[in-house]
Amino acid sequence: ILEDADVVGQWAARFVVQRVAQFAPGPGRPFVLGLPTGGTPLGMYRNLIKYYKEGSISFKHVITFNMDEYVGLPRDHPESYHYYMWNEFFKHVDIEPGNAHILDGNAPDLGAECNRFEALIQQAGGVHLFIGGIGPDGHIAFNEPGSSLVSRTRIKSLAYDTLEANKRFFDNDISKVPRQALTVGVGTVLDAKEVMILITGSHKALALAKAIEEGVNHMWTVSAFQQHAQALFVCDEAATLEL
Ligand code: GLP
Repeated sequence: ILEDADVVGQWAARFVVQRVAQFAPGPGRPFVLGLPTGGTPLGMYRNLIKYYKEGSISFKHVITFNMDEYVGLPRDHPESYHYYMWNEFFKHVDIEPGNAHILDGNAPDLGAECNRFEALIQQAGGVHLFIGGIGPDGHIAFNEPGSSLVSRTRIKSLAYDTLEANKRFFDNDISKVPRQALTVGVGTVLDAKEVMILITGSHKALALAKAIEEGVNHMWTVSAFQQHAQALFVCDEAATLEL
């Protein structure tokens, strides 16, 4: 539990720098990182860019997999997760473009795209550290309430709560929010060796309480991480109001 969202961003970035340094990635020995989007991880990305510029971390031998992407939103749409990742992070660091994997929500065969993504994660040897955020309804990536806790990467229809929460990025107009997304499954994230979930703000307080103080429940998919051996929840004070 940390003071506020700024400190969460700083702490999370330092954690990534530490883990990458411990692993010492190099040619043929990449560090595999799972990444989220949304407002919560922005502070972490800004701090990682700062550490990169100071020479404390390189992404030359880091392979990334993003959690999710909207279906049908053009890649260059300012709210697509492709646009977000390149704009907020990748273009500022030394990652090889071919090592930054993001699901293609415009692929002609969306099912095949999801299978391709899972296969790429396997080929990379699995994820060392998966970083996630959560929705106020306790979803991780786009694993909406009711998702199977052993799910793999697939297409999901978004819950009304998620459309409501994300309309702020689409002129506050819910009809402009894409109705579907491609998302890694809960099982995909559970397979990572280590998971770090960032939660800030009082609007996430109920979800945090459900996640860690109640039973594992597919209506609050983030609760699945109670059963992960190396799961870390990094929260600000406001998010802990219901604990
Ligand atoms: C979306 C994303 C999630 C993210 C959530 C919270 O639903 N698919 O991966 O965790 O938003 O976003 P924010 O951090 O903006 O609250």
